[in-house]
Parts: sequence; structure tokens; C-alpha cells
Amino acid sequence: MTAYPVNMDVKPDVQAFFDEATNTISYIVKDPASNACAVVDSVMDIDYAAGRITYDHADELIRQIETQGLDLEWIIETHVHADHLSAAPYIQQELGGKIGIGSKIMVVQETFGKVFNEGAEFQRDGSQFDRLFEDGDTYMIGAMQAFAMHTPGHTPACMVHVMGDAAFVGDTLFMPDGGSARADFPGGDAGVLYDSIQKVLSLPDEMRLFMCHDYGPNGRDIQWETTVGDEKAHNIHVGNGKTKEDFVKFRTERDAQLAMPRLIIPSLQVNMRAGAVPTDKDGNPMLKVPVNGL
Ligand SMILES: [Fe+2]
Repeated sequence: MTAYPVNMDVKPDVQAFFDEATNTISYIVKDPASNACAVVDSVMDIDYAAGRITYDHADELIRQIETQGLDLEWIIETHVHADHLSAAPYIQQELGGKIGIGSKIMVVQETFGKVFNEGAEFQRDGSQFDRLFEDGDTYMIGAMQAFAMHTPGHTPACMVHVMGDAAFVGDTLFMPDGGSARADFPGGDAGVLYDSIQKVLSLPDEMRLFMCHDYGPNGRDIQWETTVGDEKAHNIHVGNGKTKEDFVKFRTERDAQLAMPRLIIPSLQVNMRAGAVPTDKDGNPMLKVPVNGL
């Protein structure tokens, strides 16, 4: 197993931004020793029924970064989201920074390039992104070292990003009372997800964990922050000694009942292009709907 360069002494300032339309939490993470920051999992607003894209959520992140005088160095995607559209290129255009995702994006691009019958102009080599992370890769946010952990299962390209004592888990885990994300998308695998979750839970108990989503189960208020220790003790799907066998059985049965996310069709087309909206042959922004293709 990869030895990860954990450093619990570095405690970044983490600001969370909840998107009510998609239950996504975006983050600004600031290096405590400088004005450098990263954005994790931004959101572009879409009115899918109207085919209209706007940037209120991203504008709020941009405004905060500017108001606080921060330098944006990284725009991180924990994975190719199926439930919201990334605003990474919009934020990059305004503030700079490098867009990064896991190197297994190529697998995701291959899969969905077929689903959406993309032509040769859609590159399946991850070249739409500035950086493709391998398991254990490190990068700097100002003076703070961050690293990526490959955590497949929900999707092949999922990565948890660890910045000091804060880990951004994407859809590897939900809050303890929310359990875990589905593993039935193309390239997903419940057993692989269980193993990835164990990797996250092998981080120090005090590691802060930040969720990508929360749905307020059982009517509780929205939450996004917990710890490794709390997940180990209380996660309803994997905590408290649940076995891989239990997890795979439960996850597979549960996933068979779940409807497709409302925004999966536009999300995949945009997110597999690092947040760029595809265009038709005349260069107009245009999305497709493959009939019975998912
Ligand atoms: Fe996801």
C-alpha cells in the first residue's frame, strides 16, 4: 500500500459553500502559512429544462477569494460528478489556477465517449485537465503540501485529496448517518469502494473529513464535516466493524433501487471535458440526450 505523506500539524482554513440545487458542498481551502488557496468541487448552475447555464454559485466562490485577497493555485475535482456540473473553467478564467483530477479520467472518458457517441475531436487522454494525479502524488498549495489518494469504486477516477489535517473525500463517504455513495455507475464497483473507504479510514482518527454531498438524512440539518474516528465508529454502511461482504450485498441491493441522478446527462458531458460545455459542428454550446443509452 502507498505510504502517504500525512502531516496533521498543518491545519488549513476550510470554507464550505452548500449548493441547494444539487446538495453539493464546494470548498475554498487556504494554506495557513500564505494566501494560497485551492477550490474543491465547484458547481455551475443549470436550469436543465430551459437549457440555461449560469454562474451564481461560482461567482460567490470567486467573490470570496477576491475579497479575502487569496491566490487560487488549484481547482480540484474529486471525480467526474454525475449530479452537478463543474464550474472549473469559469473559475480558472477569472482567477487562474490549475485544474486537476485523477488520471483514471481516461477510463471515464472512454466509457462515456461511447455512451454519448463522441467523435474524434473528444480527446480521451485527459488533456482537457492541467494535471492528472496518480495515487500518492503530491502538490503544493503555497507552502502546504497536499496529496491525492486513489479511491475508486464510486467511479474509476475518484480521488480523496488530503491537505494538512483536512481530507476532501468526494463521494467515497457520506456523513456517518448517510453512509456511502452508490457504486453502480459504469466503472463503479461496491467491493472496490469498500477497499477505498478502508484506505480513507486508515488516515489518523483526528483527520477532518469534508463531504462532497449531504442530503440531511432523517430530516437533520445539512452537515459536511466529520472525522475519520467518527466515521469508523458510526458510519451506517462501513463503520463499527461491518464486513466487506455485508457492504457489497447492501450496496448492490440498494443501488438497484436508485433512480438516475436528475442531472447525470448534462453533468457527464460537461465534467468529462473538465467543465467545458460541448459544442456542435458550428461551435454552438450543445448537449445530447442518448435515448436508452445509460
Ligand atoms: Fe459523484
